[in-house]
Amino acid sequence: MKLWGGRFRKKENKLMEEFNKSFDFDKVLYEKDIEGSIAHVYMQKICDLLTEEEANLITKGLVEIKDDIENGKLILEGNYEDIHSFVEINLIERIGEVGKKLHTARSRNDQVATDMRLYAKEKTQELISMISSFRNTIKEVANNNSVIMPGYTHLQRAQVVTFKHHLMAYYSMFTRDEKRLVNALEILDENPLGCGALAGTTHCIDREITKEKLGFKRNVENYMDGVSDRDYLLELMSDFSIIMMHLSRLSEELILWSTQEFGFVEIDDLYTTGSSIMPQKKNPDGAELIRGKTGRVYGNLIGLFTVMKGLPLAYNKDMQEDKEGFFDSVKQIEMCVQIMEKMIGTLKINEERMKQSVKGGFLNATEVADYLVKAGIPFRNAHSIVGSIVIYCEDNKKAIEDLTLEELGQFADVFEEDIYDFIDYENILNKGTKVLLK
Ligand code: ARG
Repeated sequence: MKLWGGRFRKKENKLMEEFNKSFDFDKVLYEKDIEGSIAHVYMQKICDLLTEEEANLITKGLVEIKDDIENGKLILEGNYEDIHSFVEINLIERIGEVGKKLHTARSRNDQVATDMRLYAKEKTQELISMISSFRNTIKEVANNNSVIMPGYTHLQRAQVVTFKHHLMAYYSMFTRDEKRLVNALEILDENPLGCGALAGTTHCIDREITKEKLGFKRNVENYMDGVSDRDYLLELMSDFSIIMMHLSRLSEELILWSTQEFGFVEIDDLYTTGSSIMPQKKNPDGAELIRGKTGRVYGNLIGLFTVMKGLPLAYNKDMQEDKEGFFDSVKQIEMCVQIMEKMIGTLKINEERMKQSVKGGFLNATEVADYLVKAGIPFRNAHSIVGSIVIYCEDNKKAIEDLTLEELGQFADVFEEDIYDFIDYENILNKGTKVLLK
């Protein structure tokens, strides 16, 4: 059944009907659609578009539809064009003629725009609390693991850091991500209900009432923009993409660190899988899937950008394509944040292995140069002297701290007994700005 059959001489082509439908995926909006309708009815009553009795009947019908969906009496299926048609047709079936007044002074264009904003707001709030819980877990694991490990640049051993500091880098990233979402929420918090199809309505409605009832901060300023703005979805999906990029980088590190070659961490059995042929395998599938799903979330963003780029004002059916990608991105990111939090929370850290690796890569070479600088040698010269010491160590298969004072003396005459303390890997972290690493 159609909400708009009146002006048509022929029935819609079957394939076209299938092609046009969004019910299969927009049914997730049922709760928001009913919430929007209840607010609309309340406004209609105050603005004398409905009597009190009519408004009560319609509201009661809408509440019952919601309850029946939730208790399984009413199934979200059947030959409906979209969720809006589903709710309205079911309402009319339940309460009769009066149900046909619901759509006075409203269009599906402002209706769907309202549903999507309400949905996006709720999902963003959920995601913000997931990220904030994830940040707490990161902080806790970091604070419990202030152990030294190699820090890398170019994936080559560079200087001593701590696992704590390494992990807290991600804490900083997710803190920015959370702020971005809060900021996006502030921008999208506008009520599009009342814009009509694109040009308002001749009825004297009051948008302030629906705004208050639906908990929006402001009304959209411009009707044509209000029904055709999808910026907030693009902004959220951009924020999601940045979050996924951060999760993907962390996944990559977990995958690397759990190789036999690194052996820095072990991902809990709960988030790994085995191989059907190689009995010894324990694969980091949780982290790999997060890395993989990042492409999908980027893809959904680019998809909507491409849908929107050529659209004239105001609503065009192309915009229906905003839904599947956005819903999918929300689902993926919620799973990814939660799985990552669990992986980090249960991660086993191999402190010994990290400490050992620190010893093998001349990670105190910069500090030897700093020692020479403190003895009055210009840094550039000190850099070059330590370069020669490293070559000597490589040739003799020794670490810098294994060299005797005599050996060191061949490169500069300022080395004294205190050099060993100065370049001790743990001591390094007590000096200068490095205390932040601890
Ligand atoms: N399913 C549509 C969408 O998602 C709802 C709005 C329909 N509006 C219209 N003028 N056909 O965009």
